[in-house]
Amino acid sequence: MQSLQTPNNICILAIESSCDDTSAAICYNGKILSNVAATQAIHAEYGGVVPELASRAHTVNIVAVVDVALKKAGKTKEDISAIAFTRGPGLLGSLLVGVGFSKAMAQGLDVPIIDVHHMKAHVMAHFIDAPFPKFPFLCLTVSGGHTQIVKVTDYNEMEVIGTTIDDAAGEAFDKTAKMLKLPYPGGPLIDRYAKNGDSKKYKFSKPRVPDLDFSFSGFKTSVMYFLRDEMGKNPNFITENVDDICASVQYTIIEILTDKLKKASQQTGIKEIAIAGGVSANNGLRTTLSALADEQGWSVYIPDYQYCTDNAGMVAISAYYKFLKNEFAPIDIPALARWKM
Ligand code: KG4
Ligand code: ZN
Repeated sequence: MQSLQTPNNICILAIESSCDDTSAAICYNGKILSNVAATQAIHAEYGGVVPELASRAHTVNIVAVVDVALKKAGKTKEDISAIAFTRGPGLLGSLLVGVGFSKAMAQGLDVPIIDVHHMKAHVMAHFIDAPFPKFPFLCLTVSGGHTQIVKVTDYNEMEVIGTTIDDAAGEAFDKTAKMLKLPYPGGPLIDRYAKNGDSKKYKFSKPRVPDLDFSFSGFKTSVMYFLRDEMGKNPNFITENVDDICASVQYTIIEILTDKLKKASQQTGIKEIAIAGGVSANNGLRTTLSALADEQGWSVYIPDYQYCTDNAGMVAISAYYKFLKNEFAPIDIPALARWKM
């Protein structure tokens, strides 16, 4: 592990705009002083994120979000030492708003810029609040677009050792929620209904995928056929059994995720285990992971709710560790919709 110099008065403004949240955060000497987000309710009407509407909303919200982040942190523009932004992966139109805004503001203030990888930032959220995981650790990173097991060897240094071959875990939640006629994003609603349901009532298929990879397409199809058959017998089946269906759906997704996490820990011998990304806000997953800590002898790390779904705090902390290594970006660096970790 590289040793880091820690100069004083490092004040980073970070911007996250990769999908449908416009977020800004201030990190001062490695502490997050503010983390502000404007969420875009408009997408719920369409059952998913509409890229064009997301970019437009970012342009509307970004100035106010940055102002509030500075005010909440008790800092002014003149205090800023560097501006960080999510370079990718994400929706290109959305990324361009954050990247363009950051570059323009940095030029105006004559400060350097720092580019941040969105999925690395989800993992780096673990360095916001203690206790911090020890290197090397494994992180199950589960979001709307990704499902990965990552081996983390240093700040911002990580390798993907397992990934999904089709849908992401967040998509599995959102798409099954759609089948249950729940609005987008359905993940948090499945979580809420599942609390009152019987997780063993219905069985859905689990994939047989080699190594540490994941698949959710067979599971999704099994939920679809199950609902079609049951609704054929009783048209009110979903409304009458929504708690049990959500609990059983959630239970299966968690089993698919944690089966591979156990395998990854056995293969690597690593027992420092973290979760990150939007789906790590799921209460069933959080409880299961805490139970696995005892069963498997793991030290587990679960982020605070505000740092699970997309937020600029995670971008700011990621940038702070890049700042300490003098890893600044050139001003002509482009946004990347696809960017390997
Ligand atoms: O990390 P994130 O905010 O955005 C991406 O980078 O994709 O993740 C969003 C995903 C959505 O699929 C959403 O349904 C899911 O995270 N999610 C949840 C919960 N909260 C957010 N899924 C299950 N349970 C939750 N409580
Ligand atoms: Zn994300």
